Amino acid sequence: MNILITGGAGFIGSHVVRRFVKNYPNINIYNLDALTYAGNLENLRDVENAPNYKFLKGDIVDADYINEIFNKYKFDGVIHLAAESHVDRSITDPLAFVKTNVFGTVNLLNASVSSWKNDFSEKRFYHVSTDEVYGSLGDKGLFLETTAYDPNSPYSASKASSDHFVRAYGETYGLPFVITNCSNNYGPNHFPEKLIPLFINNIIENQPLPVYGDGKYTRDWLYVEDHARAIDLVYHKGRKYETYNIGGFNEWQNIDLVKLLCKQMDVKLGRAEGTSEKLITYVKDRPGHDLRYAIDATKINEELGWEPSVTFEQGLEKTIDWYLNNKEWLNSVTSGSYKEYYQKMYN
Ligand code: NAD
Ligand code: TYD
Repeated sequence: MNILITGGAGFIGSHVVRRFVKNYPNINIYNLDALTYAGNLENLRDVENAPNYKFLKGDIVDADYINEIFNKYKFDGVIHLAAESHVDRSITDPLAFVKTNVFGTVNLLNASVSSWKNDFSEKRFYHVSTDEVYGSLGDKGLFLETTAYDPNSPYSASKASSDHFVRAYGETYGLPFVITNCSNNYGPNHFPEKLIPLFINNIIENQPLPVYGDGKYTRDWLYVEDHARAIDLVYHKGRKYETYNIGGFNEWQNIDLVKLLCKQMDVKLGRAEGTSEKLITYVKDRPGHDLRYAIDATKINEELGWEPSVTFEQGLEKTIDWYLNNKEWLNSVTSGSYKEYYQKMYN
């Protein structure tokens, strides 16, 4: 069996690739990634020589290339994670998100339909999406699989659009798909443009911690390996044409999360309690900032028995340890173009 995983050099994708390569020696895993600023083959050093792993450098926006690899490798399944993934970047360059997240997804759908159309049985197109497609919650309530789409950022609008295309290809062409909408992930290999790794890096460097607005925004955090395990389960056991929400049952207001992170970092760095908290700096808010995301993960729990395996405190500690033990990784991704991005974004 041959599975194409897109975006496997990125944060979540690398954990999914590692899990599949290690757990399924009889499945050939093809990791297709354009290696944008967010893609990094260092994330997969430990599996790069595995006999069932192959890296393909390519862009999902290039339809000819996508058709070529489908013809060559005869994929039986696709797990699609490649995307532009950062809300702040989507505000400054929305078209990049339309290209990769919408055009790129449609190219993969077209290639899947044309190579599988004679026999869809045993085939599967798994689209990895986000809870951000549902828009923002108020103080109460949770996102269900049936919650209406209401995206607010160019990022979430592009993901919502790609979800709609996947569903439409199921209805129109019979493509056997499954979609998951997951809450905010954290863990090793997370690019330091997102809240947790950016703040870990800044604490190490004694730099200000830029909290947007009043810091009262709420996210539901899930450890990345728990997401990878959910993807494995849904790929193999999820019902086709279904959506599953995945979440951590773990809501934190940004400011409380940042304070917990500061506390844990002070201990790890041997700094006096309260040292890192002094770096907290309130900055201008993100435009269109969603107030609250929170997932009701009852469906995946009841149907497939999935639940998170670590508490937030445990996951955060594992994450901090990983960054402190992988300074080279952190230094290499925060040099060069990252510096320009940071300057433009925060100064
Ligand atoms: P990421 O930005 O860390 O990685 C994205 C990967 O896709 C990178 O390796 C990049 O090189 C690759 N890529 C980008 N454009 C490409 C293109 N045109 N062709 C081929 N490869 C390309 O993202 P992530 O955080 O790992 O997210 C992965 C997926 O999970 C995305 O679809 C995202 O929407 C979704 N998701 C993320 C989160 C989260 O909290 N990070 C939560 C829910 C869902
Ligand atoms: P982020 O990690 O970008 O994920 P998302 O926007 O997809 O939820 O942001 C998480 C939360 O942290 C969000 O409410 C925005 C906030 N945030 C800051 O306050 N400062 C920052 O520098 C960043 C990157 C995010």
